[in-house]
Order: sequence, then C-alpha cells, then structure tokens
Amino acid sequence: MKNENPMQPRKVFLEAFGCQMNVLDGELVLSDLSRKGYVVTDDVAAADLVVFNTCSVRQHAEQRVLSRLGQLKDRRARDPGFRIAVMGCMAQRQGEDLIRAAPQVDVVCGSQQFVRMFDLLSEVEETGRSVVALEQEGVSGQSRDVAVRPRPYQAFVGVMRGCHHRCSYCIVPRVRGGREQSRPVADVVDEVAKLAGDGVVEVILLGQNINSYGKSLSGRPNLPALLEAVHEVDGISRIRFITSNPMDLEVDLFKAMAELPKVMEYLHFPAQSGSDRVLKRMFRGYTRGRYLELAEKGREIVPGLSLATDFIVGFPGETDEDFEATIGLMERIRFEQTFVFKYSVRPGTRSSEWEDDVPGIVKKERNNRLLKVQERHSLMRNQGRIGRVFDVLVEGVSPKNPDRLTGRTRGNQIVAFPGSPCLAGQTVPVRVHRVTPLTLIGGLASGAPPR
Ligand code: SAH
Ligand code: F3S
Repeated sequence: MKNENPMQPRKVFLEAFGCQMNVLDGELVLSDLSRKGYVVTDDVAAADLVVFNTCSVRQHAEQRVLSRLGQLKDRRARDPGFRIAVMGCMAQRQGEDLIRAAPQVDVVCGSQQFVRMFDLLSEVEETGRSVVALEQEGVSGQSRDVAVRPRPYQAFVGVMRGCHHRCSYCIVPRVRGGREQSRPVADVVDEVAKLAGDGVVEVILLGQNINSYGKSLSGRPNLPALLEAVHEVDGISRIRFITSNPMDLEVDLFKAMAELPKVMEYLHFPAQSGSDRVLKRMFRGYTRGRYLELAEKGREIVPGLSLATDFIVGFPGETDEDFEATIGLMERIRFEQTFVFKYSVRPGTRSSEWEDDVPGIVKKERNNRLLKVQERHSLMRNQGRIGRVFDVLVEGVSPKNPDRLTGRTRGNQIVAFPGSPCLAGQTVPVRVHRVTPLTLIGGLASGAPPR
C-alpha cells in the first residue's frame, strides 16, 4: 500500500458489530495488519483504513453498517489515501452487491478470507479497483502470532468454524459455513500455551456450536477431551467456552466441568423458546422437557452452575400461549442472564418463507417482558450472594467509576469493588456487600494479597 509519508505508518481503525466470534476475527485482522506495519488507532478521524467487522444475524445490524458506510463516503472521495474494508458475515452475505450499494468500499472479504486482508488491500492499490473475496474453504485463519487484545490476560480462542445445524431462522450456516471445521486439539493447546506465555490467564474457547467440537477430526475428540487438554496448560487459571447448543450437549460435559477446576461454572445455553410448538418450527431438535432436564442435570452435577440463555421473541406464528410458555421456562430455571432478540427475517433462511406475522409492537412488548422477568431473577439471585466471598478475576478499573475495579466471579457475575489497578489480571477474594440486578458490589476480603 502506498503511503503519503513513508515515515508515518498507516493507521487502522476497526468498527465492530456482532458476537464474540467477530471480536476474535477482528483481533486476528488487527494482529496481522500490525505485523505488516499498520498501527491500530481508536480515533476514526485519524485512520487511513477503516475496517467494518459486520454481523448478519439481524437486519438491524446490517442497516447500521450501511449507514456508517454512507457517513464515510465523502471522506473516501476527498482523501486519495483513505481506504474502507468490510469483513465478516454481512460481507459474506452481500458480496458484490455491497460494492454496488456502497461503491466507496475498497475491500469486501468474507468470514473465512479476512486473514488475507493485507493482500487484498495491496491488490486494491495495484489495480485501483475494489476487490471481493468470499471463498468459504481453504483459509483457516484461527491462529495468531501477534496478539491484539483489549485485556492482556484474557483471550478468545477459536476452536471451530461453521455450524451444521439449520435452525430455521438462522443465517449463520450460510455466512460462516454450513460444514463444521474443528481445529485439532494440539493446535488449540499450542495456541493456549503461547497465550499463557504472553501473560494470558483466562481463555474463552469459541465455536458457534461448540458441543459438537471434534466431529470433523480424526479420532473425534469431543469438547470434554479438549477441555481436559487445555486444562493441562500451565499459567491458565480460567477456561470458559461458548456457545452450547442444547441439541448437541451431552452429560459428559457436565462431568468434565465438575472435575476440572479451571473450567468455570458457566454455560451459555440458548433455549430460543419455551414452547414445543415454536421449538419444532425453529428446527431446534430438542423439546422444552429435554431442555429442562439438561438444565437440571447440569445444576446437579456442577454445583453453582450459572445458566445464561438466548430467546427469540415474535418468531412467525408465536402466540400469547407460546410466549407464556417461554415465561414459564424462565420461571422454572431462573437464569443468570438472558439475551433477548426480536425475530428478524433473514433472506434465504427457511423461516423467511413464513409470514413475519407478529407485529413489531408485540415483539417489543414481549422483549421488554422477558427482560423484566430476567431483571427480577437476577436481583433475587444476587441478593442471595450478599455476605458471601467470591474469587474474582480482576478486569481493571470500572468504566463507570474510576474509584472501583471490576472483575468476574467464576459464574461470570460482574463484581465492582475498590482496589488498586495493579490487581488487574489477578484473582482475588471479594466479599459482596450489596447488589443490583447486574452487579455485585463489595470489598476485598481478608486474606487478599497486599495492594
Ligand atoms: N450458535 C450461535 C448462534 C449465533 S446467533 C449461538 O448459539 O450463539 C446468536 C443469537 O442470535 C441466537 O442464539 C439467536 O437467539 C439470535 N438469532 C439468530 N437468528 C436470529 C434471527 N433471525 N432473528 C432474531 N434473532 C436471531
Ligand atoms: Fe444458528 Fe442454530 Fe447453528 S442458531 S449458529 S443454525 S445452532
């Protein structure tokens, strides 16, 4: 890439949308570009290159990217050295259409091709034209040499790509690959060991459908086997993994979680609905009864297990009765955390053939009701924690209150407490004094390391 002033490295700004998978892909791109001479900036106005890391799961996320691209159009026209790249699921889904809709875009690269970002940018310089790279095979892009991470002691590690399920509403298999590809255990362990050498203490293993990890590998190692192997890595003290589809979850996983002390007692376990009729039309492959059974088994085998979930409200044909069944499921389980999504029609999915018949206002009401129920459950759960001491991995100074640190318990609850910023990255005991639905507020318990 030409540089107006060769002494000045080019600056890249990344604007991110979507899930943790995307966060990881964004880190991988920034790592690669940094290795090749770019400098990462958090000031979009100073950037020579803006990379949009996009999401397609709901239409709203795509609209936001289009509107941001619109805002940069004039700048791209005025500044001959300025470049715009779009990576991720929306890039994969729209491909050439994105260049037609937004000709100011220089690079469109899909969910497997982002590791070639530097080469694609060079191609733009050579040809003077936009490039589109969408192939879904052949590029793994899951390991990294240079780590660009917001927190030096925490890292996402991709363990598989794609999802072989066909939930009727979901665009993920189309944009991230419908064939699951797992990384061999040894590769994952190698990367985790490198990260540990670099000061990382907590790894979050990522897969769209992580319970079917290993099925594409010879010997078919499963998720418990992967957890065991990662558990052996010195220097790592916390292991989390997401996301657990109830369809592929087996009780072995709970046993591994109970036996491996470095594996946190946290399961992101999306239910999507509490109604069998809706689950069936979502092609989820489990019933409400099976879901409840797994949740109960999990809590029995893994003491203190935190369960987090996703629900979609306003799925085609969802009646008041279906929705009440979802509320009923929430009341039965009392999750730690619930992510609620209003149903959004995604082109090419099976459910896009069905009428999106739940009015927007009803989706909104259902959304708010679930959040209210969750707030009540979170508060109740947190009140039960007052007076207790938790091991907290300190994340750093609270973004809301500079006098406090924040961190997380093993169950992923957020804790705020006064302390020295030098505790970041350490695990300390904190006694809870008071709570809100989202936060435990407390102080370092006696026996804590000196500040
Ligand atoms: N396997 C991933 C799924 C990624 S999509 C996971 O389990 O996290 C993340 C969440 O987005 C899904 O769990 C679902 O609740 C929601 N979602 C997916 N498609 C959607 C759609 N068309 N409309 C609304 N929400 C959707
Ligand atoms: Fe999507 Fe279902 Fe896979 S929600 S990512 S198709 S498990």
